[in-house]
Amino acid sequence: MASLTVRQLDEAIKASLRLRAAENGRSVEDEVRVILRESVGARRVTAGPQHPSVIQSRNARSGGTTLPRVTLIIGGGIAAYKALDLIRRLKERGIHVRCVMTRAAQQFVTPLTASALADERCYTDLFDSQSEFDAGHIRLARDTDLIIVAPATADLMAKMAQGHADDLATAILLAADKPVLVAPAMNPLMWQNAATKRNVAQLARDGVSFIGPDSGEMAEANEAGVGRMSEPAEIAATAESMLRPQGTQRLAGKKILITAGPTHEPIDPVRYIANRSSGKQGFAIAEAAAHAGADVTLISGPVDIGDPSRVNVIRVESARDMLAQVEKALPADIAIFAAAVADWRVANAGDQKIKKAQGGMPKLELTENPDILAMVSKLKANRPKLVIGFAAETENLIANATAKLKRKGCDWIVANDVSAASGVMGGDRNTVHIITSGRTDSWPVMTKDQVADALVNRIADTVGKKA
Ligand code: C5P
Repeated sequence: MASLTVRQLDEAIKASLRLRAAENGRSVEDEVRVILRESVGARRVTAGPQHPSVIQSRNARSGGTTLPRVTLIIGGGIAAYKALDLIRRLKERGIHVRCVMTRAAQQFVTPLTASALADERCYTDLFDSQSEFDAGHIRLARDTDLIIVAPATADLMAKMAQGHADDLATAILLAADKPVLVAPAMNPLMWQNAATKRNVAQLARDGVSFIGPDSGEMAEANEAGVGRMSEPAEIAATAESMLRPQGTQRLAGKKILITAGPTHEPIDPVRYIANRSSGKQGFAIAEAAAHAGADVTLISGPVDIGDPSRVNVIRVESARDMLAQVEKALPADIAIFAAAVADWRVANAGDQKIKKAQGGMPKLELTENPDILAMVSKLKANRPKLVIGFAAETENLIANATAKLKRKGCDWIVANDVSAASGVMGGDRNTVHIITSGRTDSWPVMTKDQVADALVNRIADTVGKKA
C-alpha cells in the first residue's frame, strides 16, 4: 500500500489541519485519523487486521481502551536480539510497543524485524521524511507511558547522563517526561569502569530506573561476569509493574523480608562450604512481591542473579551475616525464608589458607549455625504476622515438611522435592506444596516465576483477611 505522510501534503492543507487539530486538542496525526475514520464510516471496525492493537492504542488516546504504551529504544549491542523477544513479552502483557533503534542497533537487528513484531513501524532517524509526526522526537517522547532502553550500552548511558540529543533515541530520552527503565548490557569490564559507574549513578539520581545487568557468560569467548542484559520476561514484568496503577497493588504498604540463595561458610580465607541453591525462587518471590507493591528487603547469599528492580537487596556470605541482616530488617509484616542456609559452619576455620600437611588431612570441626527461621518464628516482640519457611526435601516430603512446620514454629511451609531427579535445584521449574496447620495444598508443576506469583497472591489473600 502506498504511504502518505502529513509532510507530503500541500502547505495549505497542512495549515488547516494544524488549525483543526489545535481547536480539537488533538495532534495533527490524530486529527487526520479522525477525518479518515469519519469519511470511511462503519468500515473502520474491520480495518487493518494486521494492526489491531494500533487501532486499540489510538482509541486509547481518543477515549477508548486504555492499552498502556511503551517506547522501546534498542541500543547497539549483541543483546539487541533479546529486545525482539522483549517486544513479544510486552505484547503478551497487553502493552502496546513502538520501537526506536539507534544506528548501532541496526548492525545487530533490522528495523524491519522490530516493525513486524511491534505494533507499528520502527523509528530510526531524527530527521525522518517518512514520519507523519511533526517534531517527531517530541511526539515520540510524549506519546508513551514508559520508555524502556534495552539493551542500554555504556555509550548510550553516557550520552543519556550527559544530556546528548544527536540522534532520535537520545533526543527522545532528553525530551521525555515519562518514566524511563534502563536494562544495561555490556562487557563486565565496561560495566565496572569508573566512567560507567559515574554515569549509572547520575542517571539513578535523575530518576531513571534500572533492571540488571545480570551476571553470566558473555558473547565474547571465555568471558563471564556482571554485564548480561536481564531476561526479557523480567524486563516485561518490571515494565508492567511500572505501568500498573497503584490501586491494583495488593501488597502496597506491606514490608516483606525475604532470604534467598545458599550461604558460604568459610573453611579458611579461600575455601568454603556451600550448597547448590541458585536463589532463583527467592528472587522470583521478591520480584513478585515488589510487583504487588510491597516494600521488599531481599537478603541473599552468593548467587549469580542481578538485583530485581525496586527491591532492596542485601548480599551476604555466611549464615551469621544473614542473621545479622535479618535482625536489622525487622520489624516486617511478612517474612519468607527461602534461603538454603548451611546447617553447620566450621568452628575452627583458619585465618590463613590451610596448607597440605604430611600428617594427613586437616580435621574440620563443625558447629551448628543459628536457625534464622526458628528464631524469627519464636520472637515475642517484632514477630512478623506471617512467617513462611521452605522445606527442600529429597524424601518423605509432606511428612518431613509438616514436622518442620511444628518444630520451627512458622505459619506456612512451602515444601518442594529437591531430589536430583526433580531438576529443581538450579532449574526454572518447581513443584510445591503449601503446608499450614491442618491443610496441605499441592500445586501443579510451574515455573519459579509462576510459583512466586501464586504465593504472593495467596499471601495477599491471607494478609487481607487478617488486616
Ligand atoms: O531445617 P531446614 O534447613 O530444612 O529448614 C529449612 C527452612 O529453614 C528454610 O525456610 C530455611 O530458609 C530456614 N533456615 C534458616 N536458618 C537455618 C536453617 C534453615 O532460616 N540455619
